[in-house]
Amino acid sequence: MTDERPQVELNVHGGDARLPAKCASESQVMLSQQMMPSDANPLGNVHGGYVMKLVDEAGALAAMRHARRPVVTVAMDSITFLSPVRVGHVIMLHSAVNWVGKSSIEVGVRVEAENPITGEITHTNSAYAVFVALDDAGKPCTVPPLILETDQDRRRWDEAEARQQLRLTRAKKK
Ligand SMILES: CC(C)(COP(=O)(O)OP(=O)(O)OC[C@H]1O[C@@H](n2cnc3c(N)ncnc32)[C@H](O)[C@@H]1OP(=O)(O)O)[C@@H](O)C(=O)NCCC(=O)NCCS
Repeated sequence: MTDERPQVELNVHGGDARLPAKCASESQVMLSQQMMPSDANPLGNVHGGYVMKLVDEAGALAAMRHARRPVVTVAMDSITFLSPVRVGHVIMLHSAVNWVGKSSIEVGVRVEAENPITGEITHTNSAYAVFVALDDAGKPCTVPPLILETDQDRRRWDEAEARQQLRLTRAKKK
């Protein structure tokens, strides 16, 4: 028997069905910032903690745009820095919603650094963080479903769902 529901409905996942579903492209964030000496160690390498702060900000903004609610970070996966970011370079963060639960939202953040003189761009790190949307009383509230438009969106959803299950299993064990 074939599924006769409209295609768009088949692509809607998670969240609260009473809220209008959104695509990841509607909430994605691009954030660029030139690194200053105050962001770095004496050798001119930007502090990892500063990059993590920007990851948190870019991730939270995508989650807020999806939920149109304030959010808090409930989990951030481990981060490995693949190459240093130098003072004077431009750090570029691209964040997008991968997955939504009831009140939780997983966002993926890709961080790149550009040498503005040579134009060389290097991949600094990628990170995944989970945010929870809050109501006016500061309690978790439901978020809109996510529309998966492309094969990449569907792959990201599946991978994010597996990561979230792992996080919750680990949290329970603790
Ligand atoms: C996030 C917070 C509001 C959740 O409150 P709570 O009473 O535990 O709420 P719940 O148990 O209903 O969990 C809410 C959601 O978070 C998810 N969640 C909880 N712990 C999680 C974890 N370790 N990893 C990933 N997701 C988690 C739950 O699965 C749930 O998702 P769902 O609604 O989509 O099913 C609360 O833990 C909090 O305020 N934490 C501090 C947040 C903060 O200050 N962050 C900044 C860091 S200093």
